[in-house]
Amino acid sequence: MMGNKGSDTNFAGSIPKLYEELLVPLIFEPYAEDLANRLAAGTPARVLEIAAGTGVLTRRLASLLPEEVPIVATDLNQAMLDMASEIGTKRPVTWRQADAMQLPFQDEEFDAVVCQFGVMFFPDKSKAFSESRRVLKTGGVLLFNVWDRIEENEFADVVTTALESFFPEDPPRFLARTPHGYSNRAAIERDLQGGGFVSPPRVHTLAARSRAASPRIPAVAYCQGTPLRGEIEARDKSRLGEATDYAAEAIARLFGSGPVDGKIQAHIVMVERRESSSGRVALQPCAEPRVGIRLRSCGRQRGPSVRSSGLAQACTLQESSCLTTSHSESAIMQRAKRSSSRHSSRSA
Ligand SMILES: C[S@@+](CC[C@H](N)C(=O)[O-])C[C@H]1O[C@@H](n2cnc3c(N)ncnc32)[C@H](O)[C@@H]1O
Repeated sequence: MMGNKGSDTNFAGSIPKLYEELLVPLIFEPYAEDLANRLAAGTPARVLEIAAGTGVLTRRLASLLPEEVPIVATDLNQAMLDMASEIGTKRPVTWRQADAMQLPFQDEEFDAVVCQFGVMFFPDKSKAFSESRRVLKTGGVLLFNVWDRIEENEFADVVTTALESFFPEDPPRFLARTPHGYSNRAAIERDLQGGGFVSPPRVHTLAARSRAASPRIPAVAYCQGTPLRGEIEARDKSRLGEATDYAAEAIARLFGSGPVDGKIQAHIVMVERRESSSGRVALQPCAEPRVGIRLRSCGRQRGPSVRSSGLAQACTLQESSCLTTSHSESAIMQRAKRSSSRHSSRSA
């Protein structure tokens, strides 16, 4: 078995461009819109984004939040941020290279920290959560999303299964291990508590559709536009193209050789920085009662990305479910809820 984990965060070389052109419209855009809407509903005054990648969420935030709200967008890999700043944003944001586990900011600088599909990559999640908490003001929120298990994300699952047959001795498992390896709610709650968040998170599961003009697009996106590329090349550099073709054939067998349409699903997590009643961080499991509430269901169709040359189509948010919350919510969460119910009643 090859050691792979070290390369799981290697978003460099030709990855940022393929990631942005193929993967972003395929799976990331609707979730960026979702996170940006949730964040904007809370009217934050100063926002930190971590693991910003090529900036899909940053662009949404820059469009939604008033210009006077500073946005600092960070990522471990400068190559991803270079791509993000080259594409640009509607108004200025600060781009800064930073490891989420060692944030280069003062205590309590921000009232919102947001992270789209980055947490799964942090080797020490509690440490990263404690850093987010440290830079948050009391009452501020950490908002992030993580992919659900790989079986709920069809193209990623098919690609991973295909590569198991292609490299039977030592299958490259990056997609299952890392992007889809942190979907367990209990583990997320435990790590948040380990990071000092004493209030229970609200977790919301959101499915969407991932669409592309052909099976080759998700195959290239996953095999060549993510660190899976390095894992394939570590087995046989000369076979990257062949492995990609093999994955495309597997997608075609299940989804047809024309336009393809697969399910994707993620959890959205929101937690507030609160102090324990003693004023000290409490790490015990939370015993607060919970109530079920519903958020909006958004079935808006999105058009093809202008940067995708019409090759890949953006996916569509499909449904929402499984929401829990604590009885005592902060003003920011209450506002988010009110805004969501206004949206629901408008679209009903
Ligand atoms: C799947 S991408 C998500 C990027 C972006 N948020 C998006 O939605 O497209 C994961 C990102 O996490 C970044 N990353 C990995 N480890 C990190 C760390 N320790 N600190 C900050 N960013 C990290 C990677 O560089 C990559 O850009």
